[in-house]
Amino acid sequence: MFHTKNNLAGLALIVFLTSAVAFAAGDGFATNNADAAKPAQKKPAKKRAKTPPKADTATTPAATQPTATASPQNIASTTTPSDTAAASSVAAATTPKVEAKKIIPTAKADEDDSAEAIKLRSGPGDPIAGKDKSELCQGCHGEEGVSAEPTAPKLAGQYGPYISKQLRNFQEGIRTHQIMSDIAKTINDDDLNDISAYFASRKKMKGNGSDNKVGQELFLRGDMSRMMVACVNCHGANGKGKTPTNAVFPVIGGQHKEYLRIQLINFRAGDRSNSPGGVMNIITQRLTDAELEALADYVAGL
Ligand code: HEC
Ligand code: HEC
Repeated sequence: MFHTKNNLAGLALIVFLTSAVAFAAGDGFATNNADAAKPAQKKPAKKRAKTPPKADTATTPAATQPTATASPQNIASTTTPSDTAAASSVAAATTPKVEAKKIIPTAKADEDDSAEAIKLRSGPGDPIAGKDKSELCQGCHGEEGVSAEPTAPKLAGQYGPYISKQLRNFQEGIRTHQIMSDIAKTINDDDLNDISAYFASRKKMKGNGSDNKVGQELFLRGDMSRMMVACVNCHGANGKGKTPTNAVFPVIGGQHKEYLRIQLINFRAGDRSNSPGGVMNIITQRLTDAELEALADYVAGL
């Protein structure tokens, strides 16, 4: 009885996190602010994509244009009617809280190393300054963020704000590790975001493929008989994250298998408990040893 109740509470939390957190973090909805604000315009998105985007651009509030390169064509072509419907309600409720910078994620996070996507995922730091400042880190995490040691995570193409969050968590003792806890304490506030931006700006990590069917099934479909939400819902297609502006859900696809294993074990045992609402603790508690192994294998290959 008690167990079931816990399960339900866990599921409710997971569902909440998958939708609400993702939206709040700017998961695509704000893309369509301009469209959503113009209910009179009934043109289908597809057609709009072909039309010169002058009118759309002109009516878009200046604050929602983060970069000169943001392409209204891209935005329109990825717009679907349901996106727009969701956009209008969610955007209306959250617009005042959303910073201009976070609006208009035009590119899919999945394997996108376009200049724009890199800029968006890097966060507030300066990647050029971060290169020199991260020399010590590169010793373990690799010059390009691809570590040689499988227990040290790849940071290549990871979200800048996610990296910063982990470093803060290490500094505050919310996440602990023999080596990283001490190293994180040596990073001062001025350098932290620059270092994160440097690693975020590197070519996104990628694995060598995996044919692990058990891992694939759990990653893509989860197991609702155990109320286990599929990883893909939060970590995105191929585990590369959701959109370039949503740094809540880290890139995991292509990460070292050994590092992934350790994190899943730590989450399951409660040795790592810094995920929002303890969501990763709830999810990993449903995994058997064999499933955990299969997931680490599959995700590392992505
Ligand atoms: C001596 C090797 C070493 C050095 C030097 C080092 N790290 Fe690490 N780092 C690790 C290991 C090992 C882990 C895995 C910790 C764990 O298992 O929880 C890690 C984890 C991390 C994580 C967590 C990544 C994730 O995906 O959650 C971040 C961020 C990080 N390091 C950043 C840095 C930065 C920034 C520096 C430089 C200031 C640095 N590290 C220097 C070994 C190192
Ligand atoms: C409801 C959303 C959600 C689902 C579903 C989910 N995750 Fe996560 N996961 C997160 C969040 C959020 C974090 C970041 C935690 C933090 O901020 O430290 C995370 C972190 C992780 C990490 C640590 C990454 C790192 O670099 O240290 C791994 C590994 C991971 N998840 C694997 C999985 C796997 C495998 C599944 C499927 C069995 C899964 N996740 C399902 C939300 C989710």
